[in-house]
Amino acid sequence: MDIFKEIEPLKAFLKHKWNSESIGLVPTMGALHEGHLSLIEASKRENQLTVATIFVNPTQFNNPGDLAKYPRTLERDLEALKSAGCDVVFAPEVNEMYRRPSTLKFDFGHLDKILEGEFRPGHFSGVGLVVSKLFHIVQPTVAYFGQKDFQQFKIIEKLVEELDFNVTLRRMPIFRESDGLAMSSRNQRLNADERKKAIVFYEALQLAKGILKEGKSVQAVKEAVKKKCEAIEGVKLEYFELAEGDNLTLAENVSDQTVLLIAGFVGEIRLIDNLILSE
Ligand code: PAF
Repeated sequence: MDIFKEIEPLKAFLKHKWNSESIGLVPTMGALHEGHLSLIEASKRENQLTVATIFVNPTQFNNPGDLAKYPRTLERDLEALKSAGCDVVFAPEVNEMYRRPSTLKFDFGHLDKILEGEFRPGHFSGVGLVVSKLFHIVQPTVAYFGQKDFQQFKIIEKLVEELDFNVTLRRMPIFRESDGLAMSSRNQRLNADERKKAIVFYEALQLAKGILKEGKSVQAVKEAVKKKCEAIEGVKLEYFELAEGDNLTLAENVSDQTVLLIAGFVGEIRLIDNLILSE
């Protein structure tokens, strides 16, 4: 496995060795779990070369405390990537990716004003910036992202469409722990008690699905989800919404396309999850 910390040597390597080969890109912020490794496996199945990136991107954090506490486990991540058969890792420092503070801002229209965008202002602009940079540097054939960040995937679809990036995007299923908790790098920060409570968001999604199947109103579902989350000490629901999967408009009625999206805190740790109703 070749490891790069700088942009130019990576570009030269990819150009020299892999020009015209198919390259799969798996962008990550590290603290890797099985979900990330499933993206590596998918990329290996579909491409000649798999490039993973590990970069805790400061421009997508609207909360400095969250950025400071984001888990960083580079040595362990490199071991995991090597075992998974990843070919190349790009793990730059902040000043390599941002040689000067960037003032570039993205506006994704309604897509970055709702859900995560409402609670994490500027977050998706930072995601757009770093993903654009990674696409330019690696020039992947296919790029892999997890469904857990459903809204992020929609943002990246728009980015690719509007900026004509020559890349195919793959949205890969959520990986869950045995009790249903969606795998996330942030789970590492939960203490034992919080870890038990963290399953509430998955259970709330299941509850919502059940109530919707009974034909109850969206309002009734929202109330039930709120009640379930509020019943647990230390859990704070930030939002629970139904949205259309194709364009992410918030929905008051259910269709085949409906996605249920939830976010909230367990103690200080912010978690998100979602469920596509038809799946
Ligand atoms: O999903 C993530 O881990 C990050 O948002 C990404 C896509 C690697 C950009 O920093």
